[in-house]
Amino acid sequence: MQISQSNRHLIFIILWYSFLFCYQYTEACNLQDQQSLLAFSEPLTSPLGPLKWSTSSDCCSSWEGIGCDDNGRITRLWIPGRELTGYISSSLGNLTSLSQLNISYNFLTGVLPAGVFSSLSSLDIVDISSNRLRGNLSASLPLGSNLTSFNASNNELTGHFPSSICKTSPLLKTLDFSRNFFNGEIPVGLGRCSNLEVFRADCNYLSGELPGDIYSLQSLVVLSLAANNISGTIQGILSLTNLKIIELYGNYFTGEIPQDIAKLSKLEQLLLHLNNFSGSIPASLMNCTQLIKLTLRGYNLQGYTSALDFSRLVQLQILDIGHNNFTGNLPQSLFSCKSLTAIGVASNRLSGEISPNIVELKSLSFLCLSGNKFINVFDTIRILLGCKNLETLILSNNYYDETLPAEKSFIGPAEFTNLQVLALGGCNFRGRFPEWLLHIKSLGVLDLSYNQITGRIPDWFGTLPSLFYLDLSVNRLSGEFALPLNSFPALKSEGSAHKLSQSNLKLPYNIQVN
Ligand SMILES: *[C@@H]1O[C@H](CO)[C@@H](O)[C@H](O)[C@H]1NC(C)=O
Ligand SMILES: *[C@@H]1O[C@H](CO)[C@@H](O)[C@H](O)[C@H]1NC(C)=O
Ligand SMILES: *[C@@H]1O[C@H](CO)[C@@H](O)[C@H](O)[C@H]1NC(C)=O
Ligand SMILES: *[C@@H]1O[C@H](CO)[C@@H](O)[C@H](O)[C@H]1NC(C)=O
Ligand SMILES: *[C@@H]1O[C@H](CO)[C@@H](O)[C@H](O)[C@H]1NC(C)=O
Ligand SMILES: *[C@@H]1O[C@H](CO)[C@@H](O)[C@H](O)[C@H]1NC(C)=O
Ligand SMILES: *[C@@H]1O[C@H](CO)[C@@H](O)[C@H](O)[C@H]1NC(C)=O
Ligand SMILES: *[C@@H]1O[C@H](CO)[C@@H](O)[C@H](O)[C@H]1NC(C)=O
Ligand SMILES: *[C@@H]1O[C@H](CO)[C@@H](O)[C@H](O)[C@H]1NC(C)=O
Repeated sequence: MQISQSNRHLIFIILWYSFLFCYQYTEACNLQDQQSLLAFSEPLTSPLGPLKWSTSSDCCSSWEGIGCDDNGRITRLWIPGRELTGYISSSLGNLTSLSQLNISYNFLTGVLPAGVFSSLSSLDIVDISSNRLRGNLSASLPLGSNLTSFNASNNELTGHFPSSICKTSPLLKTLDFSRNFFNGEIPVGLGRCSNLEVFRADCNYLSGELPGDIYSLQSLVVLSLAANNISGTIQGILSLTNLKIIELYGNYFTGEIPQDIAKLSKLEQLLLHLNNFSGSIPASLMNCTQLIKLTLRGYNLQGYTSALDFSRLVQLQILDIGHNNFTGNLPQSLFSCKSLTAIGVASNRLSGEISPNIVELKSLSFLCLSGNKFINVFDTIRILLGCKNLETLILSNNYYDETLPAEKSFIGPAEFTNLQVLALGGCNFRGRFPEWLLHIKSLGVLDLSYNQITGRIPDWFGTLPSLFYLDLSVNRLSGEFALPLNSFPALKSEGSAHKLSQSNLKLPYNIQVN
């Protein structure tokens, strides 16, 4: 096809205008801002080479991590994960149009310069997380009234918790102060951040009770204060009806889990383990139908588990109620929670036989029943062969004085194909060495300690390809444990521990039985 002369002319005009359009908004970089950036970069070094900030090019259009507004003022300084070492220069405080600052995942040290943020009134996003910044954060505040997101997590910041940040920055939606050294009580003040959606301050040294104004944060979706020293009851959180994630584990909370917890109808994760709660699991918790993770391990909860109706928790993936004082069997209703991947009920007073219905949990990869009064190990293992995805099976300290099946044919060669951790310690099992282990080629960790297993360890045993942790102590095994030179191939190959897939570490467990 021929393009006529006039059409060519038209095309030229279109190209010319699009050229103009693309470039008309890029002003040259403001010279003072450029000076401030260069001063900021002076104390910084990186094994990846210096920041690509060359004075021979325009800082708005070609400097690494820099963005400008229409007037050539610098609005964005975004250099995370650049392996930068050095300190933060006070010249940062001269970039007065800055709205987005991300220097996370570097190796920056030293204290933040006093008041460095106080002239940066346009700041919207500040991410200084995952560095090694020290000192009193309060002395570097305020951060301006437009701030919506502040992440200072994973540094070495000290001093009292800076609740006052909400006085000057009331529009905050995200506040992450986790993994620092803040101490003392959380002062009143956070209540002014009425838009706050995410509040994290886990892994600090915070103590005392939660300040009452936290319970007015109606927009809050994530509340994480895990691994601190906080006490008091959690009754107040019932007013935070938008909460999806509550992480309060590893504190000194007391009292009962609130009876009307179902008011938190959006709850997806309730992680309360390692506190000092008492009482029982309220029936209303079983109405939190969005629950995905529920951990109540390690305090004095009691009650008859069979009375709990889990059947509405169809999203539940992780359940840990270990180290409490529960009685009864695993509740039948649990087997209708088809999403379950991990169940931990260690160290309670549960009893009875495992129900064949457990095989309905097709995704189950972690099961820990240790330290209860379950019976019938023969049927238990036969039934669990039906859980094809099982990777970790901890049955220790149950089945007292029963006989552990020994025959090779007890399981078939194509069963337990994903099993990596098997603990059968402390059961006082009778019988010969379980020959059926021969079939479990994926086995990495085996605990048979504290039993009464007799006879010889079979010759094939040292050839299990993946085994790297073995405890046969305190048994009545005889003969020599003479292994061929090629025994335990996984013990010899470096990094075999890493082969243990992450998923079987879903819940903490203790392989040692004594
Ligand atoms: C900062 O950059 C890191 C690395 O790219 C990113 O993961 C993080 O989300 C950024 N921070 C914000 C607040 O966007
Ligand atoms: C900030 O800018 C002022 C003048 O605008 C200048 O005097 C001062 O030295 C600058 N500070 C830093 C640390 O660059
Ligand atoms: C805060 O944000 C608003 C809306 O984006 C803007 O008009 C205002 O200039 C900003 N304030 C500052 C101090 O930058
Ligand atoms: C804050 O930054 C850390 C990494 O430095 C990240 O893991 C965390 O998710 C961030 N917090 C929020 C609320 O995005
Ligand atoms: C931290 O800084 C704030 C504000 O400058 C000050 O009031 C407070 O006393 C300081 N705290 C410590 C422990 O130095
Ligand atoms: C945490 O609280 C416990 C008991 O109340 C106390 O012994 C301990 O010193 C506290 N630790 C910190 C870091 O505050
Ligand atoms: C835990 O609660 C019990 C009573 O319920 C109390 O005796 C004990 O001192 C509490 N422990 C801590 C560390 O607060
Ligand atoms: C759970 O929800 C059902 C239906 O919404 C309601 O009838 C029942 O009373 C609730 N149970 C508890 C203990 O809140
Ligand atoms: C467990 O419950 C029994 C009775 O139900 C009680 O005697 C025992 O003290 C409780 N144990 C703990 C640690 O609370």
